[in-house]
Amino acid sequence: MRTHVSTVRNADAAAISEAAKLIREGRLVAFPTETVYGLGADATNGRAVAAIFAVKKRPRINPLIVHVKDIAQATQYVVFSGLARELAEAFWPGPLTLVVPRKADRALSLLVSAGLDTVAVRAPSHPVAMELIAQAGVPLAAPSANPSGSVSPTRARHVADGFGSGIDMILDGGHTPIGIESTVIGFDEDGPLMLRPGGVPRETIECVTGPLKTPCKGPVTSPGQLSSHYAPHARLRLNATRAEAGEALLGFGAAAPAGSLNLSPSGDLAEAAANLFAMLRTLDAEASAIAVMPIPAKGLGEAINDRLKRAAAPRGTP
Ligand code: TXA
Ligand code: MG
Repeated sequence: MRTHVSTVRNADAAAISEAAKLIREGRLVAFPTETVYGLGADATNGRAVAAIFAVKKRPRINPLIVHVKDIAQATQYVVFSGLARELAEAFWPGPLTLVVPRKADRALSLLVSAGLDTVAVRAPSHPVAMELIAQAGVPLAAPSANPSGSVSPTRARHVADGFGSGIDMILDGGHTPIGIESTVIGFDEDGPLMLRPGGVPRETIECVTGPLKTPCKGPVTSPGQLSSHYAPHARLRLNATRAEAGEALLGFGAAAPAGSLNLSPSGDLAEAAANLFAMLRTLDAEASAIAVMPIPAKGLGEAINDRLKRAAAPRGTP
């Protein structure tokens, strides 16, 4: 595979059709979704999927999400239970990922699900992602487009900053509107499990499913749930009321002092999610320690607090 400086292209019709051609040729394209930018490859091409793991330096035990057009394309490769179908009907296209059994003997790369007998699938709602999947004609394996363990990208520039080379094209679709990754739901014999809080709040999903369980701690439930993840270089101190000497403050709500970066001055959690990763990157470039004000735990706050907790965890924790 060629390595060269990644080309950032405005995501217009011509660039999307070139990107789709690159995907069909087994190359890597970063593209915007409504959550974060993804690093995409043909999910049916084992070599292309292997290249994603190599470029991200991602442990091969951590499976990828397969992005599809719709339920019909998903069920070519995976089996939907009644509840999985209900969830897809309620939230697709959108920021919900479903972990479901893979169909045997289908074209999907084995590496994409890291040898598990389940696959994570989602249909994104971002128009650029939808058009790319449609034109590529294959499902797209795509993790967030950042080096493994670092802060997820919500701008094309973040992707370019993370990978100097090794990606064949970066489709620039502006900032990603939700700004935090998809909610990941799995299923066990007793029902649905919250594997990763994300862009669809728990309360919204529970309207369809009833109470979601949290999986018992175990290495295989969702290998991506490592404690230290989404990590900036700076140390993070959570639930801070003010910055101590040497700290930069990441504020939230009206109580934040003027002059500090504020996730949402009006206390709006959707605005805070959309700003979270870009503001962490900005402060990371300025300071070696970041104090973060408390974020309410309801709605999108669950996903925001999950990412902040992982960003604050001691590095190298399993
Ligand atoms: O919003 C998103 O989900 C973004 C955009 C690009 O779609 N993608 C994303 O991918 O966040 P990634 O690879 O950074 O996170 C995928 C998560 C990981 O926590 C992974 O362990 C989990 O999904 N996952 C994938 N396949 C799984 C499986 N078969 N069983 C359990 N967890 C799985
Ligand atoms: Mg990620």
